[in-house]
Order: sequence, then structure tokens, then C-alpha cells
Amino acid sequence: KTSPKPSAHVAVKSYACQRRSPLNHHNTFLTEPLEILAENAEFMENEGRNIAFRRSASVLKALPRVVRRMEDLKNLPCLGGHSLRVIKEILEDGASQEVETTKQSEQFQAMKALTGVFGVGVKSADRWFREGLRNPSDLIRTGQKLNHTQQAGVRYYNDLNKPVTKKEAEAISDMVGKAVRAVLPGAILTLTGGFRRGKEVGHDVDFLITHPEEGAEEGMMPKVLKWLEDQGLLLYQKTTRNSYLESRDGPERAPHHMDRFERCFSIFKLEQTKECSGTTAGAAGMSEQQSGPSWRAVRVDLVVSPYSQFAYATLGWTGSKLFERDLRRWAGQERGMSLSNHALYDSKRHHYLHASSEEEIFTHLGLEYIPPSERNA
Ligand code: CTP
Ligand code: MN
Ligand code: MN
Ligand code: MN
Repeated sequence: KTSPKPSAHVAVKSYACQRRSPLNHHNTFLTEPLEILAENAEFMENEGRNIAFRRSASVLKALPRVVRRMEDLKNLPCLGGHSLRVIKEILEDGASQEVETTKQSEQFQAMKALTGVFGVGVKSADRWFREGLRNPSDLIRTGQKLNHTQQAGVRYYNDLNKPVTKKEAEAISDMVGKAVRAVLPGAILTLTGGFRRGKEVGHDVDFLITHPEEGAEEGMMPKVLKWLEDQGLLLYQKTTRNSYLESRDGPERAPHHMDRFERCFSIFKLEQTKECSGTTAGAAGMSEQQSGPSWRAVRVDLVVSPYSQFAYATLGWTGSKLFERDLRRWAGQERGMSLSNHALYDSKRHHYLHASSEEEIFTHLGLEYIPPSERNA
């Protein structure tokens, strides 16, 4: 038998779904710089590099104390050479030259501003950057062709880049709850996403809707939206209908991490109390915001799930994104199973595994249960 590890070295598992990642951890001074490099890699469409930096940061979030020396990182998984160099520089000099240069770069700043427009992805942002555009005002000024989502994104740019508070999320939850119960008594509304993980602020508010009677939930999204619309609560909405059954084996199968629930990407009009409504400085083309300082725009995601898939949908929409990614990777690589936001399929025994709670899914996967508040990987 080998002697036990010195107690100074904590064992950290390599899959994010095997670790507890609390919201507040001890190494923000390292994880934030690493996540800047991850984001930059994302802007460059370098997915391998993006995920490598995200994984490095995530491992540090699971540590029970501050990293002070390179020595503290011994035996930790997922830390590649590049990440280690960045960490070493921060520990020795207080900052990483590469990170500071990245933050200051025109490309990083422009990509951040352009992808910060709701409806604008890395590809469009990169094209606009190469055409010399730097921020949302440039899109208006130069008369770029924008789809409806992007038009709403530019119009409400300032509001949508202001963090949504927990209090605002609760106010929206009350509104959506009313709508849901009005159109379908007995329906269940669950807050998912970052707020379910205990975050104090978010970039949007995520909800999952279901009904204990299987099938009763069908067709409820348009009704919920109409109810909200009639109350004057919606500034924008785009619904995608459920396509799980009809196109399961179709040619246009989405990548397996994209689910096929009926969903709605929306922007809510949230009335605010006087003390919360600071003046919103509007950039070009965003003047609508100036006339209404009594309300703000908030991004809301609504998803409807059949009751039989509700546990999987809840797990899938709670995040974090890295936690979800590693759950699917764990299922595939370690268990020979395929996990989606709808179901868990055992590829060896050729059957689906039913679950009526998140706990059951972790058990099916042979994982210790991790509560939402510790999925902040
Ligand atoms: N999600 C998904 N399919 C999408 C978009 C999102 O399954 N097309 C899931 C993500 O995996 C994530 C959850 O929905 O787990 C919430 O996503 P998002 O709102 O983007 O992130 P949050 O973790 O809520 O963080 P934020 O506070 O920034 O909103
Ligand atoms: Mn490298
Ligand atoms: Mn969210
Ligand atoms: Mn969301």
C-alpha cells in the first residue's frame, strides 16, 4: 500500500460533475484571468483552447483554499502548460502579460461589445469586426442588415447588459407564475439557470414549465405568451416549437447538447420602483429607452417540458454550462450512456432510464448527488 497523500494536497476529480463548485470560492484572482483567455479563444473560434482554459479555471473553483505557490497545484487535473504559465505569472508578478494584453486589445473589446448584442454570435461579430465595426452604434450608423432578434438586441442594449438582480428575477417569476396558472391550472413553474444555482445576478432569467398530467402542457406556450402580451409585459419574443419527436432521426438533427423543447427567447418589460430606475444613457438607435425610465428590459428564457422528461430538463437547464458538458462527457465516456436534456439512454443495454428527480439521474450515472448551489463549475 502507498502512503496517503500529504494533507496539503487535496484530491480534485477530473470531471466537473464529480466536484462541488460553490458560487463563492477562493481563487477568483486566478479564475477571472483564465476565463478572459477562454472568452478570447471563443471569439477566435478556437473551441479546444476555450474549453482548456474553462476547465483550468473550474478546477481552481473547487479548491478549499487560496493557491499561493505552484506547489499547491500538484496532482490537480486539467491544468495544461499554458494555464500553468499564466497562473505562475500571476502568482509571481501579480498579473499575466498575456491576459492584460488581451483585455486591452481592440479585437477583444470589439468582440465583447458586438457579441453583447442579443442575437449576435461570434461569426457575425467577427465579420463586422473585420469590416471595421467596433460597437452596436456602428451597426446602426453603417446601416447593417439586422434580423428581428438583433434589432431588439440593439434597441435594448444598455438594459440587457445590466445584470439582472435576484429581486428582479423574483418579480418576473411572479409574473410568469400568474400567466402559467391562468392558462393551465396545476402547471408547475421552476426557476432554472444561474438563479437556481444561487447566483445573486444573472444575464437573464430561465424558467421551465410542466404539468403533472402528461400532454396537458402541449400548446401552452402560445397561451402563456398571449397572456403576458395582453398585460403589456412582453417587448420581444421568439418561439421555437417542440421538435423532439418529429425530427429525432431527421437529417437536421441538432448536436446532441441542443434540446428540442418548445422554448421562447424573450425580452420582458419590467416595471421598476423609483430608486432602481437610474437614467439610461442611450447610444445611437437606442433612444426608446430614454422615454421609459420607469421600466427596464430583461431577457427571459421559457421552456416547456412534458412531465416525463421534467427531471432531465431541470438538470439540463440548471447548468453551469461546464457542469452540463462534463455530465454528458461522463455519461458517454465512463458509463456508455447518452445524456440529453430529454433522457438518458443506456447504449449497452439498449434502453432509456426513467427518472422523476435529479437525484435519480445522478444515481443512474453512478455519481454522487451535487446540489444546484454546487454546480457552479
Ligand atoms: N441551455 C441549453 N440550451 C440552450 C441554451 C441554454 O440547454 N440552447 C442551458 C445551458 O446548458 C445552461 C442553462 O440552459 O445550463 C442556462 O443557460 P444560460 O442562461 O445561458 O446561463 P446561466 O447559467 O443561467 O448564467 P447567466 O446568469 O449568465 O444567465
Ligand atoms: Mn498553449
Ligand atoms: Mn441564465
Ligand atoms: Mn438563458
